[in-house]
Amino acid sequence: MTILVVGASGATGRRLVEQLLIQGHHIKAIVRSPEKLPDSWTTNNRLQIITASILELSNQELGEHTHDCHAIASCLGHNMNWKGIYGHPRKLVTDATSRLCNAIKDNTPKKPIKYVLMNTTGNRNRNVMEPISFGQKCVIGLLRLLLPPHVDNEKAADYLRTKIGQNNQYIEWVAVRPDSLINEEEITDYEIHPSPIRSAIFDPGKTSRINVGHFMANLIQDANLWDQWKGQMPVIYNTSSLN
Ligand SMILES: NC(=O)c1ccc[n+]([C@@H]2O[C@H](COP(=O)([O-])OP(=O)(O)OC[C@H]3O[C@@H](n4cnc5c(N)ncnc54)[C@H](OP(=O)(O)O)[C@@H]3O)[C@@H](O)[C@H]2O)c1
Repeated sequence: MTILVVGASGATGRRLVEQLLIQGHHIKAIVRSPEKLPDSWTTNNRLQIITASILELSNQELGEHTHDCHAIASCLGHNMNWKGIYGHPRKLVTDATSRLCNAIKDNTPKKPIKYVLMNTTGNRNRNVMEPISFGQKCVIGLLRLLLPPHVDNEKAADYLRTKIGQNNQYIEWVAVRPDSLINEEEITDYEIHPSPIRSAIFDPGKTSRINVGHFMANLIQDANLWDQWKGQMPVIYNTSSLN
């Protein structure tokens, strides 16, 4: 398959690209700063690096980059500094998601394209009952006021949930929700749940970025896994953090 990855230069995006390469796919990666990427990527003939800032691409360019892709994966996230959190673009993840989905629709693919969004357990799937405590509601409300990236993550998943929905002719989607991200070098056991099994605010579990990349790649690769989770917002935890 050919897969477009946005956010490929990030800590999780790199892990996802590595997993997709191991699975034998062709990757197109849109990155702002190719000099940050591993040397081995620039010489890999299954990896095409497109140097651009995703939201600065025209609709026509997005159409060209997506027209031969079977799947799109987003590991975009705001840089954790003042400019990344409070500067522009405030709706990086949401706007990238909606513009890429519009590009897919304009391409009128014969089979639905898979869209895999990296999201967060701090966000709820409002298609299903996900009760949270009063305390957590208050903290999430504060995060919405104080942290624009949190609102962006919520809106990006809302876009897929409400604007693409469950029966779109051109797009199927999964929003993967890791808990607190950690860096590990090896894939370890992990669990996937339809909804959080612990509080993302008061009792967070851990999820390694490499496991997120592994699960996102497997969703794209494995048709049965895709059918199990499409249109949903699975939560991923490292098994070791649940003990
Ligand atoms: N921290 C946690 O515990 C946690 C938990 C759950 C979910 N999440 C979510 O997971 C996502 C990814 O996390 P991560 O740690 O892998 O992120 P990361 O390492 O910061 O990677 C972010 C990616 O987004 C790109 N990006 C940032 N600003 C951009 C812009 N204005 N235009 C284009 N690209 C831009 C970065 O590109 P550059 O390399 O060019 O900057 C990078 O490729 C985030 O949405 C985050 O909210 C985080």
